[in-house]
Amino acid sequence: MIKSISTPLRNLIKFQYNSNYSLSFNRLNATNTQRYFSTSSNKSGKDELVTFTFINKDGSKTVVSEPVGTNVLEVAHRNDVDLEGACECSVACSTCHVYVEPKFYNKLPEPTDEENDMLDLAFDLKENSRLGCQVILKKELEGMVVTLPSATRNMFVDGYKPPKH
Ligand code: FES
Repeated sequence: MIKSISTPLRNLIKFQYNSNYSLSFNRLNATNTQRYFSTSSNKSGKDELVTFTFINKDGSKTVVSEPVGTNVLEVAHRNDVDLEGACECSVACSTCHVYVEPKFYNKLPEPTDEENDMLDLAFDLKENSRLGCQVILKKELEGMVVTLPSATRNMFVDGYKPPKH
């Protein structure tokens, strides 16, 4: 079994556990193709929170405070915000499509090619569209507004919504 952890730091350390449970470290250079996995604690062990607002499909607001390092999809699921996330952050769907308030959109890293490919499939794509699972909380995003699109494209045509993961 191989587990890998990627972070947006310049020099990354990839941990690989092989079937013999030996550990090897590979230094990697940051690339534009990495996928983000959330971490929810800072080095001090004390969570630093980011407060921001979801605008739900019905126009209601949900204000949340979640730790730096958490992705927006994960935050939505923890707070009963109706954002699907069918592929569990694998950048293989567009069901976590959100609109990020433009002044905060510019504070995010550029979307990867994989994210752009999935965004091309999203319903009602806009200039400030992002995949929620690829938006990672950081202190600079304090106060942002994330709006859910009125609909998403998914594999189900009968209105079925898969349970949240
Ligand atoms: S959950 Fe599928 S791309 Fe984000």
